[in-house]
Amino acid sequence: MPDTPDNDNCDLFPRNRQPTLRVVAMPADTNPAGHIFGGWIMSRMDNAGAVVAVEYANSRVVTVAVTSIEFHRPVFVGDLVSCFAKIEKVGKTSITVKIEVYAQRIQAEGTRCIKVTEAVIVYVAVNEDGTARQLPKRDPNFSSYL
Ligand SMILES: CC(C)(COP(=O)(O)OP(=O)(O)OC[C@H]1O[C@@H](n2cnc3c(N)ncnc32)[C@H](O)[C@@H]1OP(=O)(O)O)[C@@H](O)C(=O)NCCC(=O)NCCS
Repeated sequence: MPDTPDNDNCDLFPRNRQPTLRVVAMPADTNPAGHIFGGWIMSRMDNAGAVVAVEYANSRVVTVAVTSIEFHRPVFVGDLVSCFAKIEKVGKTSITVKIEVYAQRIQAEGTRCIKVTEAVIVYVAVNEDGTARQLPKRDPNFSSYL
């Protein structure tokens, strides 16, 4: 089954991967149209990306750039939102993370799974004083364990 935003089939959910963060979208997170705020989703994605960046860096990290973000579909109240974060690139001090977000929506006819959002976010490992710090050397496969 192709992994595209247009495919609303439940099989789309990547069960072979560990979600980095899962949360249910609540009424307090809605915009005036009744959908979930884009900013709420971005915040969850930033959290998920930071989780894998911190694990890699073994230090504090800060977000330096959101290289891309695409909102494919709206998120609704009650959706179970799962963020999957994967390291794409590691530099001297920066870690580039791809975050994909899926919504599982329970309906009378069954649960639908929808790929709602994806982004690429860059984090920088920092020292206590907030200056960039060199990343540790790691097994090239380290990020695939996250
Ligand atoms: C992140 C920060 C410490 C970088 O400090 P700096 O001394 O200017 O660092 P550099 O310019 O050398 O960049 C550090 C790394 O980030 C990368 N980087 C910087 N700007 C980038 C951008 N716009 N897009 C992608 N990567 C970027 C650099 O390529 C470099 O990567 P490398 O070391 O792997 O080669 C500093 O910019 C900062 O504190 N920014 C504010 C962070 C923040 O408050 N975020 C929001 C809350 S978490």
